[in-house]
Amino acid sequence: MTEQTDAPTADGPQGGQRPRISVIGTGYLGATHAAAMAELGFDVVGVDVDPAKVAALSAGEVPFYEPGLPELLVRGVESGRLRFTTDLAEAAAFADVHFVCVGTPQRPGSNGADLRYVEAAFEGLAHHLTHDALLVGKSTVPVGTAARLAARVRETAPAGLRVELAWNPEFLREGKAVADTLTPDRVVVGGATTWGEDLLRAVYARSLAAGTPFIATDLPTAELVKVSANAFLATKISFINAISQVCDRAGADVTVLADALGHDVRIGRQFLNAGLGFGGGCLPKDIRALMHRAGELGADSLVALMQDVDEINMWQRQRVIDMAVQTCGGSVLNRRIGVLGAAFKPDTDDVRDSPALNVAAGLHLRGAQVVVYDPEAGETSRRIFPSLTYGTSTEEAVADADVVLVLTEWPVFRTADPKALLSRARPGATVIDARNCLPADAWREAGWTYRGLGAAR
Ligand code: UGA
Repeated sequence: MTEQTDAPTADGPQGGQRPRISVIGTGYLGATHAAAMAELGFDVVGVDVDPAKVAALSAGEVPFYEPGLPELLVRGVESGRLRFTTDLAEAAAFADVHFVCVGTPQRPGSNGADLRYVEAAFEGLAHHLTHDALLVGKSTVPVGTAARLAARVRETAPAGLRVELAWNPEFLREGKAVADTLTPDRVVVGGATTWGEDLLRAVYARSLAAGTPFIATDLPTAELVKVSANAFLATKISFINAISQVCDRAGADVTVLADALGHDVRIGRQFLNAGLGFGGGCLPKDIRALMHRAGELGADSLVALMQDVDEINMWQRQRVIDMAVQTCGGSVLNRRIGVLGAAFKPDTDDVRDSPALNVAAGLHLRGAQVVVYDPEAGETSRRIFPSLTYGTSTEEAVADADVVLVLTEWPVFRTADPKALLSRARPGATVIDARNCLPADAWREAGWTYRGLGAAR
């Protein structure tokens, strides 16, 4: 690997007008990124170690639920611009710009991130390179990782090639991944020379022409932008959840309060929905990894802040379990509980660290007869909690229930007919709206006992 110098050329390193792209890791992030790049007209190869995933994607099938992605994938594959392989060497030989999108899950028994996949991807790529290349990290990593990887890539890449590493964090949300990738809020690039920056400007040309801000910075700042964004979002959610407890005690309504706060542009209304709290494959593990890294760096204020954010968040799950137990008169043993929602949020089948599934499992462990229904996450839930009972409709989950819990705010639950549902539940049934997403008055009028979190009585 050559030292990083500035020698601009707008073309791909192989001399083509458009750089060829590889995407390493084809999970939610990588599969979407690969399909979006093909949609933008680039020739793309996606790489994954899982042959089943590669076979599915090659056949135009998305192995998870993400609205809009199947159409994008099929278009890319049919156009001939998008293909998938398990062979990293093939990708190294093909592409000029390599996006590393592999997972950085929480390390078992630690708050720190497990970096083995990201390390293997960079090292494997560097080892197989046959021509000049830009290696771009998209995975979320602890600050300091990219500089270490750059040094390792320098040692591993064949001599005489221009091989550079840059960090380009990803901000896409599951459920909105396609739009977030095709029209990002901002493009952040860390550690790129003019050569690398020009390549990435070519990759993101359409967004940049539409006015998307391009922020060029160093590696540690780029790494930290990503985790700080997630940490801030998590803090906002835990803040409103802590306020919702005050609302409960004081008889105030947290939703009205959040609406009123949101009119202040300095605060904004988004991510102020009080409820069961945050889950998924990103926010929980990212705040823990940040806590861990900040501790290593001696940045103790942030450690304390993230600890509180995490604790408030986890407490929300207990709070909802306690509400159900209390509603059942102190014990849920042999009581029928209908659970609506298992995914960590709507528009996804992802149940990683899902508050909904945690609450359902917690009630099941306490002896309740729990029937869970989620429009998309039935299969993924069953893989994690096979012992829970899964219904195939809202009506089935609600049938004969003493208590119904709304744990994921899918539109089908928000718009359900409370009168029709009450006729299926036990007389005098209670609905616990743990996402504050139902029209409370309509449910009360239909005869339900309605309980929200921080919802005025
Ligand atoms: C999050 C970030 O929003 C993305 O910008 C980021 O790129 C991504 O993580 C990532 O690191 O890859 P995501 O995990 O898809 O995206 O989910 P969010 O939409 O952020 O929701 C996270 C959780 O917060 C969900 O469980 C949701 O129900 C909860 N939430 C959200 C609330 O409890 N209240 C709110 O007001 C908003």
